[in-house]
Amino acid sequence: MKEQKFEFNYQVFDSIAEMMEADKNLLLEARKATNKSYAPYSHFHVGAAALLANGEILSGANQENAAYPMALCAERVLLATVSSDYPETPIEVMAISYQGEGQPSDHPISPCGMCRQSLQEFEGRMKHPIRLILGGMEGPVYVIENVSQLLPLAFTSEELK
Ligand code: THU
Repeated sequence: MKEQKFEFNYQVFDSIAEMMEADKNLLLEARKATNKSYAPYSHFHVGAAALLANGEILSGANQENAAYPMALCAERVLLATVSSDYPETPIEVMAISYQGEGQPSDHPISPCGMCRQSLQEFEGRMKHPIRLILGGMEGPVYVIENVSQLLPLAFTSEELK
């Protein structure tokens, strides 16, 4: 028997002001995208913005449904848009932000388990890491070098040969 360890480093910025211009801009796009959310049930508005390898920036937001489990997270809405409109183009960076009605947006949130699996699929398919920028409307920002770090021992297409 041997023990194995998984760990990863990520960057923590005290605020958006410390970040480089391109990252700052993408986080601002994600913040703006929270306004595209349809969240009448949770009142939690999530926005995501992606910088593609061709320089395009696309964004998406969570879309809920009266049948609650049908809700689509912002990340998966955005991945579906990218995959449909630019099926051959890798995502370089994805920024995620949020606004909860009646609660502060002052710390990063990170993608749910389902979105981690979808992000990981996209990263694997494009053979290109997706850098993540996670931040609220204010406060600290996390930068994670690739999505796979968020899903250790993931189930991947490699198993389905
Ligand atoms: N949500 C996202 O859009 N992304 C996440 O990573 C976590 C949760 C949405 C789903 C639902 O519409 C609302 O936030 C509350 O869970």
